[in-house]
Amino acid sequence: MGAIKNDLLLRVLKGRPVERPPVWMMRQAGRYLPDYRRLREKYSFFERCRTPELATEITLQPVEQIGVDAAIIFSDILVVPAAMGMEVQLVENLGPLLPDPVTTAGDLDRLRVPDVAEELHYVFEALRMTRAALGGRVPLIGFAGAPWTLLCYMVQGKGSKTFDEARAFAFRDPATAHRLLEMITETTIAYLSAQVAAGADCVQLFDSWGGLLGPADFSTFSLPYLERIIRALGEQCPTILFAKGAWFALDQMRQTGASALGVDWCITPETARQMAGPGAVLQGNLDPARLLGPRQDIARLTREMLERFERGRHIANLGHGILPQVPVDNARAFVDTVKAYSYPAL
Ligand code: CP3
Repeated sequence: MGAIKNDLLLRVLKGRPVERPPVWMMRQAGRYLPDYRRLREKYSFFERCRTPELATEITLQPVEQIGVDAAIIFSDILVVPAAMGMEVQLVENLGPLLPDPVTTAGDLDRLRVPDVAEELHYVFEALRMTRAALGGRVPLIGFAGAPWTLLCYMVQGKGSKTFDEARAFAFRDPATAHRLLEMITETTIAYLSAQVAAGADCVQLFDSWGGLLGPADFSTFSLPYLERIIRALGEQCPTILFAKGAWFALDQMRQTGASALGVDWCITPETARQMAGPGAVLQGNLDPARLLGPRQDIARLTREMLERFERGRHIANLGHGILPQVPVDNARAFVDTVKAYSYPAL
């Protein structure tokens, strides 16, 4: 396998020097891109995920059209609950729907730790195909949802701003919650390992709803599982851990051994650096809604952000996924601003 030409991301993840921060955007594949929207009219969401040619095409779009420094494989975190035996739908204007959510201990009998090679082979084919199509232009990021975040969907049965059913379930029946988290963790370790074997250069864990838990509950229901996954994967590739809203746990998350920690826009770079400790690699954290504003503001705020994170210890990104209504030129303005930046001479 040939060397990667633009290896900025991998260099930062390995603590090696870079002349400027690498830049990519969470949820960059899909959503706001017109070419993606056209594919969306022809194929259902899970058809797009399960057809390696389509997943490859969508993964390459932001690399070729926006010029990001990394590709993230087009898929979804909810392919894991589906592989475990749950029905998962994506409903227009509603989002994910799991019509038979987990509500009791007995519901776990319907679930299994699957053979990922069998249930998720389409993701691995997409990774192999994308890697070949990239030809080493940029690194390829694999990903999975964190156990806590997947439990949220598996119990709540749909998206939510608060996931109170899921939180109440964990508090009411912690033994069952932990059994479910165990099953997801085991599946995720096998799933991410197979992604690396299929060509992912590094992996990101998305704990999108980690910050809905208070610090003590995060330590109970999320962190131990994140740590197990990061420790298992860390032997195979660099890892990025993004727990949205869980800024209070940056220090504990660093101790998991993750190569980088994602931060959202509700924490300043200075506070995040202080909490994670010197030398920690941080990824983020422009407010995604800033990409809806004027391009001069995007450029100015992006430069300010770059100056405030630690030199050589920063992966430029948004603080959460790019919004569907972002104009393509605004996404480009963000990426171009980072690419035009260089760290001042020492
Ligand atoms: O980063 C990338 O571009 C790779 C692809 C990717 C998707 N989902 C494609 C997708 C990634 C990394 C995800 C992760 C994901 N999926 C998360 C964690 C990240 C986050 O934003 O917090 C979560 C919580 C989900 C669950 C999910 N999937 C939701 C809530 C939705 C509906 C709303 C939306 O657009 O986010 C999806 C569907 C989904 N996953 C779409 C895409 C491109 C939209 C499908 C469409 O309408 O075309």
